[in-house]
Amino acid sequence: MSKFLGPIHFWLYRKIQLQEGLTDAIVAYGKENNWNVLSDSALADDVKPVEMPELDAVVDGANIHGWLQARIGSAEDRSARIVTAVLSEDASRIDGLKQAAKAFGQQNKAEVKDAEEAYQLLNDSLLDGMPCDNVNQLTEKSADRVCWTRVMDVHGGSYSALGKDDAVYYALREAMVSGILEGTGYTYSDKDGNCVIKKADVRLGMYAVDVMMEEHKNIHHMLLVVDKICCGILEGAAIDSDELRKIIDFIRKYGDRHHHGKEEKCLFPRMISDLGVVADNLITHGMLVEHDLGRDHIREAEEALNLYEQEPKTEHKLQLLTNLMGYANLLQRHIEKENNVVFTFANDRLDEAAKEEVNQQCRDFEKSPQAMITRELHLSFLKRMMEKYGISEDD
Ligand SMILES: [Fe+2]
Ligand SMILES: [Fe+2]
Repeated sequence: MSKFLGPIHFWLYRKIQLQEGLTDAIVAYGKENNWNVLSDSALADDVKPVEMPELDAVVDGANIHGWLQARIGSAEDRSARIVTAVLSEDASRIDGLKQAAKAFGQQNKAEVKDAEEAYQLLNDSLLDGMPCDNVNQLTEKSADRVCWTRVMDVHGGSYSALGKDDAVYYALREAMVSGILEGTGYTYSDKDGNCVIKKADVRLGMYAVDVMMEEHKNIHHMLLVVDKICCGILEGAAIDSDELRKIIDFIRKYGDRHHHGKEEKCLFPRMISDLGVVADNLITHGMLVEHDLGRDHIREAEEALNLYEQEPKTEHKLQLLTNLMGYANLLQRHIEKENNVVFTFANDRLDEAAKEEVNQQCRDFEKSPQAMITRELHLSFLKRMMEKYGISEDD
C-alpha cells in the first residue's frame, strides 16, 4: 500500500496528528479541571484520546486523497464539538482552553533560525487546506519578519455546522503557536487573518516605509520621463496629448491616490498623534502642503494642455511646461525630504505597536482591489515610458 503514498500524504498526516494531539490535550486539561460537560455521553467518542497509527497502516490505498480529506474533516469536527461544548457550559473557559493550547505548543517546541524558517514550520504543522488552495498569501518575507493574509477560511464548516463562529479555532491556534515558538526569539500574531511572525524585542524597519520608498523610486522614474518630454518639447518636438494625459493619470492615480493616499491615511496621522509638535510641523505644514501644491501643478498642467489642444498658442505650451516641471521639481525635493527626514523619523521614534498598526493599515490598503489594479496598470505604463525615454532602473 505504501507505494502509493508520497511525501505530501505524510506531510498532511503529521498536521492531522498535531490537530488531534491538541484536542486530546484540551480534553486532558478539561478533565483535570473538572469540566463536567466532558463526561456527557454525547461526547463519549470525542473525548477518547485518538490513536494515530502509521499512515500506511490505516490509509485507504485506493483513495488516499479522499481518505486524508475525510480524516482532516473528522479531526476538525471533533475539535469543534469539544470546544463548543466546553464554552457552551461556561464561556469564561476560553482562557483555560488557550492555556491548554499553549502548553501543548510548548510540548512541541521547535528550533528555528529565522522568521522564514518559523513560517515554514507553521506551514508544515497547521491544517490549512492543500498547497494548491493557496489559503495564505504572503505579503512580506525576510529573515526578521514574515507576514501573510489568510484569504480563505477552510475551518469554518466544522463550527458553522454547530451554529458557531470559528474565531475560537484561530485563537487556540495562536496560543498553540506561541507555545511552539517560545524561546525561539520569534513571535506569532493573528489579527483577523493578518498574520505576522517577527523577531521579538528588535526594532525593525517599517514595512510601510519600505513600500513607500519603493513607490518613491517609481515616481522618481516618471519625473525623469516628464523632464525628458519637456526638454523634447523645448527642442521642437510635437506635444503628444494622449501620452501626457496618461502621465497625468499616472501622477493622479499612482502618485497621489495610491502613494500619497497611504501617507495621508496610514503613516502621517500616526506620526502626528504620537510624535508631538515636531512631527505635526513637519507633516501638517510641510508634506501635506506640498501634496496640495503638487495637485495644483497637475490641474494647471491639464488646463494648459486642454487650451493648447483647442488653440496651439505658445503661451499655453509655456504654461504646460512650467507646471509639469514645477511638479517634477517639487516632487523630487519632496521625495528626498521624506526618504531622508520624515520616514527616518517614523522608523526611529514610533514604538513597535504603532509601527505594526501602520504596517497593517498599509497591508490592508495594498490588498484592496483598487490598489492591485493601480499597481498593475500604472507600473506597466511606467515601464513602457522608461523604455521609450531611455530611463534605467539605476537612474
Ligand atoms: Fe508625501
Ligand atoms: Fe511620498
